[in-house]
Amino acid sequence: MSQHDDSNPAAKLWGGRFSEATDAFVEEFTASVGFDRRLYGQDIAGSMAHAEMLASVGVLTKQEAAAIIGGLGAIREEIESGAFTWSVAREDVHMNIEARLIELIGETGKKLHTGRSRNDQVATDIRLWLRDAIDALLGQIRRYQHGLLDLAEREHATVMPGFTHLQTAQPVTFGHHMMAWYEMLERDAERLADCRRRVNRLPLGAAALAGTGYPLDRELTARLLGFDGVCRNSLDAVSDRDFAIEFTACAALIMMHLSRQAEELILWTSAQFAFIDLPDRYCTGSSIMPQKKNPDVPELVRGKTGRVYGHLMALLTLMKGQPLAYNKDNQEDKEPLFDTVDTLAGSLRAFADMVPNLQTNPANMLASTRSGFATATDLADYLVGRGLAFRDAHEVVGRAVRLAGERGCDLADLTLEELRAFDSRIDADVYALLTPEGSAAARDLLGGTAPVQVLARIAEAREHLAGTHSR
Ligand code: ARG
Repeated sequence: MSQHDDSNPAAKLWGGRFSEATDAFVEEFTASVGFDRRLYGQDIAGSMAHAEMLASVGVLTKQEAAAIIGGLGAIREEIESGAFTWSVAREDVHMNIEARLIELIGETGKKLHTGRSRNDQVATDIRLWLRDAIDALLGQIRRYQHGLLDLAEREHATVMPGFTHLQTAQPVTFGHHMMAWYEMLERDAERLADCRRRVNRLPLGAAALAGTGYPLDRELTARLLGFDGVCRNSLDAVSDRDFAIEFTACAALIMMHLSRQAEELILWTSAQFAFIDLPDRYCTGSSIMPQKKNPDVPELVRGKTGRVYGHLMALLTLMKGQPLAYNKDNQEDKEPLFDTVDTLAGSLRAFADMVPNLQTNPANMLASTRSGFATATDLADYLVGRGLAFRDAHEVVGRAVRLAGERGCDLADLTLEELRAFDSRIDADVYALLTPEGSAAARDLLGGTAPVQVLARIAEAREHLAGTHSR
């Protein structure tokens, strides 16, 4: 980034009332162009809409607006071809573009900022940028959800142990587990779509803080930029960053979900579980231990969750002490927001690519299900069906589990005589329920793990996704 020769204070767009040049360190310290240049596309789109609106209400002539819009288009090309020279002396993306416009088209360029302030300009730019980011993230979430549906369908009848307290609890199907992840993402998508409604409102027209005396048509600017509405209070419009905090809170929840999924993937790939294999292309080896295949991608996603939580705290703290209206503090909103979007986009992309391509080891999952008395509840439910109260049935089965534990076998390995010694109401038909498959199939109610229920939910979800087009 070059230092434009703007050392003469009057060369700054705001230099009129200053008698000495900005301290060189202060110039660097206060500049945001190093990171906010990322908003150039939104800044140019916002300026084009502003110019068009100014012409439509007669503040600019049609020719002036056309010259400004043409110049802005040329600047966009310069930026995209790498020909544009960004200048720290010009502080931020807004003044870099405006100063260049004046260089390119002369006096008319000086009219663009009529009825506008960088305060409503930057708020507009961020909202436009975040709206696009949300749409891209929603696309990634939908892609991941589709991948989970395919995986869940493939594995709808694959039995695995379900856990509570990370202790074997009851048999579930792997498809049901993948559909639990699907449901987390469904809530995430709902939250993002709701957040988008509050992001997508236009601040322009608030000017510095009080509005402006020019007869701006804010509704027109909003329509030109695809906003759903206009911010209703000028003070609030320039100082509100709720939308960024809200988005980051949504992002923190999504990362929390991905982190929990990551933790399960990591456990399941360990030799001790050996429930799944991740494709080699998502794993790395060890420089010393030849046998290693490390689940780096899930580990990294789990680790990156922390920085997004940090950004949420940073943004909340950024806003907590600010009086109305705009304060320079707000310049600090961008880096946490950008990094949140980048981190989330990368993590979602990695999971959407990787998870649907995992391979299950059904034999290991089944063996593991058989080893932890996962069907003990089924035996108790069976006794309830034969007239025992559940509490008494619980007690009886507890004793049967103790015997099986001493033998080192599963409940299903006890003979009928042995089982009947605990309660004479037990018959040979109990064995169908004591298998993991029988246990899972018995949970045949809405939201249950029975394979038919998993398939029903997958069908419903497919229909739902077909109806949601992330805009
Ligand atoms: N770079 C500034 C920001 O990011 C733009 C707005 C500056 N406004 C001002 N009055 N200094 O917030």
